[in-house]
Parts: sequence; C-alpha cells; structure tokens
Amino acid sequence: MAEAAKKSRPEGGYKIAVLDGDGIGPEVMQATRQVLTATGIPFEFIHVPAGAAAIALHGKAMPDETLATIRECHAAIKGPTGTPIGGGHASANVALRKALNLYANLRPVLSLPGVPSRYEGVDLVIVRENTEDLYAGIEHVVVPGVVVGMKVISETASTRIAEYAFEYATKHKRRRVSAVHKANIMKLADGLFLNCCRKVAVKYPQITYDEVIVDALCMQLVKDPTRFDVLVLENLYGDIVSDLCAGLVGGLGVVPGANIGQGQAVFEAVHGSAPDIAGKNLANPTALLLSAAMMLDWLDEPVAAKNVRRAIDEVYSKTRIRTGDVGGTATTDVFTRAVCDQVTRFVQEAQPL
Ligand code: NAI
Repeated sequence: MAEAAKKSRPEGGYKIAVLDGDGIGPEVMQATRQVLTATGIPFEFIHVPAGAAAIALHGKAMPDETLATIRECHAAIKGPTGTPIGGGHASANVALRKALNLYANLRPVLSLPGVPSRYEGVDLVIVRENTEDLYAGIEHVVVPGVVVGMKVISETASTRIAEYAFEYATKHKRRRVSAVHKANIMKLADGLFLNCCRKVAVKYPQITYDEVIVDALCMQLVKDPTRFDVLVLENLYGDIVSDLCAGLVGGLGVVPGANIGQGQAVFEAVHGSAPDIAGKNLANPTALLLSAAMMLDWLDEPVAAKNVRRAIDEVYSKTRIRTGDVGGTATTDVFTRAVCDQVTRFVQEAQPL
C-alpha cells in the first residue's frame, strides 16, 4: 500500500537539527542521515556543534546558538557527547535537557531477532526523569575532604514524569507501570517521588501499578527481564538501569532513546562516545537508527518509522551483516548500506504500480 500523503508534512520537508557529537558520534550520525534519506521523506539537516567541537568554537559544550537552532527545527537528533570525569566542562546533555526542559527520557529496550543476548522476548520501556535529582549538579566542598551533593526531587517534576509514564502506557497498550525507588533509605526524596507516582496511578485504573526498590529491580532484571513492562525512575536510577537493560538485549549498540519535552524532542542513543572505537568505522549505528525511528514516529511518520525498524530486523534476522559489538565483522558503512538497501526496497514496494 502506498504511503498516504501526510497533511502535516511541511512543504520543504522537516528541518532536523543534527548534533554529531564526539567520538563515534559523527560516524553513527552519518549512517543515520543516510537511512533517513532512504525513507524518501524530505529532510533538511542543519548541523550544529555540541560537545568537544562546540567547546573549540564557542567555549561551551552546549552553545546558545545550538539551542536556538534546535528550537527552530521540527526535531533534533544527537550523537553522544563526552564529559570529562571529576573536573573539566559541564555535561552538554544536562545543559541541553535543562535548557529545553526535555523532562522525559524514553528508552525502549527490545530484543532484536538475530542479535545475540542472554534473553529473548525482552520488551520493556524505561521512562527516566531527565531534569533533576543528583544531576541538578549542586555540589560544594563543606570543608576540605567533605563534599555535599544535593539530590533534588520535586513534586512538579515527579508528577510530570509519572503522568508521562502512564500516558505512554495507555497510548501503547502497556499493562503495567513500576515505580523504581529507594524510599526505604531516602524517605523524603524518594518518598516524595513515590507519593507522586501513587497519586497519578489512581487516575489510570486500567494499568497495574507497583513499586520496586532499585537494587531489587537490578537483581530481578538480570534474572528475568521479560517480567517488566514500563519502568518510571528518577534521573540517576534511570541512567544506571538503562545501561543494565542495554546489556540484557545485546549491548549499548542497540538501545535507542528520546529526550522529550513540551513540543520539542531530541533523539539520541543510550550509549556514549565510545572513544575506544571512535574513527575506526566499527561503531554499531543501530541505536541511533532506532532513535531516528522514534523521531519519525514523533513527527507522525509511522510508515517511515516502521520501514526503518523492519529494515534493521531484516538485516539482523536474515543476514550475517553485523558489527563487532554484536558478534559480526561488518564495518559501520557496510551495515548501514545493508539497512539502506532494505529501506529502499520497502519504499519501492509501497509505490503504486
Ligand atoms: P560508552 O557508551 O561510550 O562505551 C561503553 C562501551 O560500549 C565501550 O566499550 C564502547 O566501545 C561500547 N559501545 C558504545 N556504543 C557503541 C556502539 N554504538 N557500537 C559499538 N560499541 C559501542 O560509555 P563510556 O565509555 O562510559 O563513556 C564514554 C564517554 O561518553 C564519556 O565521556 C561519557 O560521559 C559519554 N557519554 C555520553 C552520553 C551521551 O552523550 N548521551 C551517554 C553516555 C556516556
């Protein structure tokens, strides 16, 4: 069936802000632009600096000019940006999420056919609060040798992320939302988060609501990840549990993500800049490609989104073409070409004769 002409597709195509980022960022971004182009949808890619390149140009990892361009675009797609450990510049990601109020970090964790992993049938969704918690970056030296870092949890942000999780669950026909916490120890902060989740949960009686302590969650995820559905977490727990979950389905190379706010969204993989393999044509672009599919859904282009996901599934399930992180020998370019070929085939098959 031919793709229906979309009423909302802009005349000149979608303006997409492209943040290449650091390390493997430019490589996986190039792959993503190629696959997006293969969908046949018109895009105008507007490259803006972020991370190390931005520091060289503007002295800031997330410059105001980059934020302004993202605001003007229909969506943005971002490669990973490196953040120095224990000093140096502040995180471009934290700045981006705060400046654009991208409060929900959505990370679907799905088993891909043909990708080697310890489990089959994993299909869970991480909904991570993206603006506060220990990531508020409020720390100070009380006296030499003693540092205090503030965990900021607010009723507004906790309620907002809980509502996002339940709305997402409703829209995507999910059955259960689990709030993840450590309120047995952080009775006030995580207690507030839990109370907000509970208040929101009563408004969604069709969805099962439960609570799980974060350490117990980690054990249960490793034992049997298929028993979880939607997880809603504060920022730090969400960050850590995301990487754990990536490990359950084949690694960081295959798990996508989105930072979503009011009318604005930035799509990026869960993984970082992978300096160990940067510039070697070894990176797995799947995670950013799947993030691009999320972007297509967000732009209300479900056919193109499906084509990208189907193309990735075809390559993994019907060929041996895969990058080293998931047991293959293909380069980024070869894998990308294979996905592009499949997308092109689906687009051509959908053309009316
Ligand atoms: P990382 O995710 O960059 O790498 C961890 C391991 O996974 C490495 O062995 C790497 O080679 C592998 N890996 C990651 N993505 C891959 C891909 N697409 N294909 C194949 N292998 C892949 O995590 P790491 O090393 O802890 O962080 C490196 C830098 O990235 C740090 O500066 C960190 O701050 C930054 N980072 C940035 C993020 C972002 O911009 N959203 C997210 C996480 C980390």
